[in-house]
This record gives sequence, C-alpha cells and structure tokens, in this order.
Amino acid sequence: MERYAHITGWGMAVPERVVTNDELAKTVDTSDEWIASRTGIRQRYVANARETTASLALEAARAALEVADLSPRQIDLIIVATSTPEHIMPATACLVQDALGAINAGAFDLSAACSGFIYALGLAANGIRCGAHNNVLVIGSETLSRIVNWKDRSTCILFGDGAGAFLLQASSVPGGVLASLMRSDGSGGDSLIVPAGGSRMPASAESVRNNQHFIQMDGKEVYRFATRVMASAAREVVQCAGLTLDDIALVVPHQANRRIIESAARSLNLPEDRFVVNLDRYGNTSTASIPIALCEAVAAGRVRPNDHLVLVGFGAGLTWGAAVVQWNETAKPEVSPWHRIGRQAGYGLSRVRSAVRRGLRRVEGIVYGKQSEVGAGDETLPPRRG
Ligand code: UT7
Repeated sequence: MERYAHITGWGMAVPERVVTNDELAKTVDTSDEWIASRTGIRQRYVANARETTASLALEAARAALEVADLSPRQIDLIIVATSTPEHIMPATACLVQDALGAINAGAFDLSAACSGFIYALGLAANGIRCGAHNNVLVIGSETLSRIVNWKDRSTCILFGDGAGAFLLQASSVPGGVLASLMRSDGSGGDSLIVPAGGSRMPASAESVRNNQHFIQMDGKEVYRFATRVMASAAREVVQCAGLTLDDIALVVPHQANRRIIESAARSLNLPEDRFVVNLDRYGNTSTASIPIALCEAVAAGRVRPNDHLVLVGFGAGLTWGAAVVQWNETAKPEVSPWHRIGRQAGYGLSRVRSAVRRGLRRVEGIVYGKQSEVGAGDETLPPRRG
C-alpha cells in the first residue's frame, strides 16, 4: 500500500506581550515609518521570563494534537526546529516530549535556522512515506528576543517570538507532503551568525562584553541571497511534485521581509494575493514563521481541500528549502471520542509521571552510588543495572 504523509493537526502559540515599532523607537534610533517601509513589520511578540522556546512549542503542539484528535502516546517522533533552544543540551524536543507525555516518541532538535521547519517537515514526511513512522510532530519554536541585541537597530526590529506545530500522519489517501527540498551553502555562514557560545568561542566574560552572544547580520547580503533562492526553490519543488506554478493555490513563504516576498512573487510571475503575509503582526519568527502563517491562512479559510501549497524558506547557514503540500483534511484517520478526554487527563498525568521518574532516578542514583562505593578499589566495572 502506498503511504502518504498528511498534515492532520496544526497549532500556534505566541507570547502575551506585543512590542510595536513605536515602542522600539523609544529605545533605539528608528521609526515606525522606516521599519514598516523597509520590512513591512509593524509589531512583534516578545516572550517574558516564564515564556520559553519549550513552553511556546508545547502550547503549539497541544493545539495541533487537538486539531488532529491524537493522543500524545501515539506520537512516534518529535522534531523541534529552533535556533534558540532551551539549552545546548538536552534537546528542547525532549522537554516537549516529557511535558506532552509522548512516552513512545523519539525526540530531537534540528538546527537549520529559519529553514529548519521546512527541513523538519521534509524529514518527517520521508520517514512516514518509507514506513519508519506513523505520527510525527514537527515544531518550529523560537525566543529570538533572547539572542537579539536590543541596542542594534539593524537587527532588533526584525525578529519576534512564537511557535507553530504540525502533526504529520501516515495515510493511504493520496496527497499530503508531495515533495520537499533542502539546500545549503555554508560559505555564507558569516552573514547571519551568533558568534559565541559554541565550540569555536565558548562563553567568557569577554564574549559577553563584546556582544558576541547576539545575532550579527549582514542584512544586504542575506537580502540578496533570499531573493535569489526563494523563487528558484519554489520552482524546483513544484517541478519535483510533478506540478506547474499554475497549480499552486497559495505560497506560504518565510516571513522575513515583505520586499523579499514581493520580489519572489515577481520572479515567479504570481499575483501577490497568492502569498500569505503576516509579518506585519509577528516580525520574523524564524522556524515558527511558516507554520504560524499557515495556521492563520487555514483559520481565515484561505486553504481549501485539495489545494496545492508551496512552503518556502531561507535562513542562516546559509540554508533554504521548500515543500509542496496537497491539503487534505479528510485524510485524518478515524479516532474515538475518548481520545479528547484521555488527552486532557494525560497532560495532567504527564507532570506526575515526569516527577515520579525524576524521583526514581534520584533513588536509583543513591543506591547506585552506594554500590559503587562498596566496589571502590576493585579493578572491576561498577555493577550493571537492568
Ligand atoms: O530569516 C532571515 C533573516 N534576515 C533577513 O531576512 C534580512 C534580510 N535583509 C533585510 O531585510 C534588509 O536588508 C534590512 C531590513 C535588514 C535592511 O534594509 P535595507 O534596505 O537593506 O537597509 P540598509 O541596511 O541598507 O540601511 C539603509 C539605511 C542605513 O543608513 P545610511 O547608511 O544609508 O545612512 C542604515 O544605517 O538605514 C539605516 N538603518 C535604519 N534606520 C532606521 C538601518 N536600520 C535602521 C533602522 N531604523 N532600524
């Protein structure tokens, strides 16, 4: 039986606080007029101390599971695409897995900057189509406000926080993710970079003093690259799917700059109203921008059954990628009404489960520690567990 990977659930989350261009203009030398005319952005959401990449990802993931009516236990794999993970390790995806109670899922983070969601979507769809997975949760989540230099007007005006999640499910109904592509050009790595905090330049008092933990960007360079790859990636992926641009009902582009989207529309010879644009309200939320834009398009009734969509993004790396999706909500597998009740109860239980597991691990650590002490001095390995 032929297998297809359908988007059966979708959800988004943004922080509570909105920061308008006028507010930014009070702290850096800029204006609403400059930001709006050069980028199209009017406001962005900025996380408070309680809102993190994992908490936004979790909220979006729960919303996607509600739409799909799926229990977290049925998820096989969770991929969180992010440039602002909760920690360097463990993966943010593991924190989401634990909080969801997705006890049968593998989980990992994917780092491909703003193209990360497209990369994750492609991997998830390929995994489903080849039979390795049935239910994959793909999340793009960011708190870019944490790595933005709020004194640098060339970058701080651009970015925002948020998360978007898709649930991909296996189905025998034709449609879903029809084609995807991923590309990169590491020679352009310097044009959009957070220089410190990694292996090359570990955190130090000096790196903090020099603002090297913040995003540094050659805006013009990224702009030129983006206008080049958006149209070519869209064209290529449509061809891979065996379609033409005339078949495409809607393009959901990465929301970085309105002028980049307009330029892609011109190159593709498509009317601008065939593009989803919501960056005026969110700014550039990196990996979250495409899923948030698609969630809004669905909510606004802009996506109809069997529509062909192109999702296309670019970002640091340099990376870019695109996917063609045939939207088919009817491909959702049959589920029992008990799932919803079970799912809600499960969210409460997952906290308890997580606390119990932490407790058990602590007890195990104490017992294990004592056993090791007994064996100290022996030239043997510590006793094996399990
Ligand atoms: O996910 C990928 C993330 N990155 C991107 O997509 C970024 C792509 N690049 C861009 O979107 C644009 O290059 C920017 C929006 C970043 C900048 O727009 P631009 O039209 O390329 O402006 P510019 O950098 O050439 O700057 C023009 C002028 C400069 O002043 P001078 O040298 O002409 O006197 C800047 O200093 O605008 C000045 N400027 C600003 N003025 C007011 C730069 N930033 C600001 C600002 N407010 N925020």
